[in-house]
Amino acid sequence: MWVRPASGMQGAPRLPGDKSISHRYALLSALCPEVTAIENYSPSEDCRRTLDCISAVGARVSRDSGVQRVQGRPLGGLQAPLRELDCGNSGTTIRLLSGILAAQKFESVLTGDDSLRSRPMGRILVPLRKMGAAVTVADTECAPVRIEGRPLHAIEYVLPVASAQVKSCVLLAGLHARGLTEVVEPIPSRSHTERALPLFGVDVEIQDERIAVRGGQQPRSPGRVRVPSDPSAAAFFCVAACLISGSDVRIYGINYNAARVEWLRLLLQSGADIQVENQREEFGEPVADLRARHDPAFLESFPSKIGGKIIPSLIDEIPILAVLGSRLPAGLEIRDAAELRHKETDRIRTIAENLRALGVEVDELHDGLKIHPCRSFRGGRIESRKDHRIAMAFAIAGLLADSDVEVRDSECVAVSFPDFFVELERLSGTGE
Ligand code: S3P
Repeated sequence: MWVRPASGMQGAPRLPGDKSISHRYALLSALCPEVTAIENYSPSEDCRRTLDCISAVGARVSRDSGVQRVQGRPLGGLQAPLRELDCGNSGTTIRLLSGILAAQKFESVLTGDDSLRSRPMGRILVPLRKMGAAVTVADTECAPVRIEGRPLHAIEYVLPVASAQVKSCVLLAGLHARGLTEVVEPIPSRSHTERALPLFGVDVEIQDERIAVRGGQQPRSPGRVRVPSDPSAAAFFCVAACLISGSDVRIYGINYNAARVEWLRLLLQSGADIQVENQREEFGEPVADLRARHDPAFLESFPSKIGGKIIPSLIDEIPILAVLGSRLPAGLEIRDAAELRHKETDRIRTIAENLRALGVEVDELHDGLKIHPCRSFRGGRIESRKDHRIAMAFAIAGLLADSDVEVRDSECVAVSFPDFFVELERLSGTGE
């Protein structure tokens, strides 16, 4: 896909439903014998994988008039799949579903594409084994994950890495286990699982860093739920609006969970021209509307270094923040983000490689990047390495470049945001 320089972004992008929340609603619906209607379910390839997997273990999945319906089976009552469960590119599918399948009465094998089969699974194996699960992987500690389902017992688990996927895996396994499973997270990560469980009638105890769930509670369908728009998808358009002169972009109904909008907090505290409107709560999640306009003054106040405890709350937005960082007067240093090396690609390396392709000087660090300031991007070729967030972040860089930018393997955006380029061309007027 070729991206042409733009002279402004106008309008409201049609954003997908939040990917993280969609996965959780689908998985929890699969544990309820009643039907759950999920509105605004993410159209992403990743969330389709979750539906395919739950359907392969006995949930009934259908879609009508844009509403996703799932009818599950009672707790512990899923059915043996006939073949391997293909999670595609989706780390959330494989890690959360493993927590559920570890406690079923059958064997299952979860696998995925080349990228997913090179991502670390040891982080879920450790707590699951402590709970009594029989889970094995290849020598590399990567998928395929082979699970021999068996009864689990509760544990207390202190997360060694800040990961919502690991936390959620343990809580979902804990829902099936004997006793009270407690997860302690020293650094907060997205709180969607602990917010979704009570929506499905499951009691969750939360005290400071400690989240506990008692096993054996039968989830109950809330009947209907609605997924808010994806803030990680919104981030591309907001940052573009802030950076491209003449822009005025409106975002409706995004998830405003603090562990998802740290990127926005940074922009707001730097004085970016963004209004946050209509803050409300929907289905246990904070939701808000935004209006973002171009005003480059904020670049002077944006931090020149980010790191520490906020990193897990903006981990998915680092690719777009890296693009923004190269426009800052002092550049941007990103630290404490070694987790980026374990995403859909090694994002530290991929970001560095692609910024350089646009003429930016970058130092690759073991846990981040030092991005030097760059007044203008030259056109060129971006290697997305089939990583959706790299493709989208560098498409925004393309709008800012002096000449056209080619984003290779751009179809990978379907992993989270299938209509990304349609919306990009519509708002930037670069499609005609
Ligand atoms: C996700 C958690 C994050 C994030 C991923 C989605 C989730 O991963 O990067 O895109 O839905 O729980 P980790 O939990 O591995 O940090």
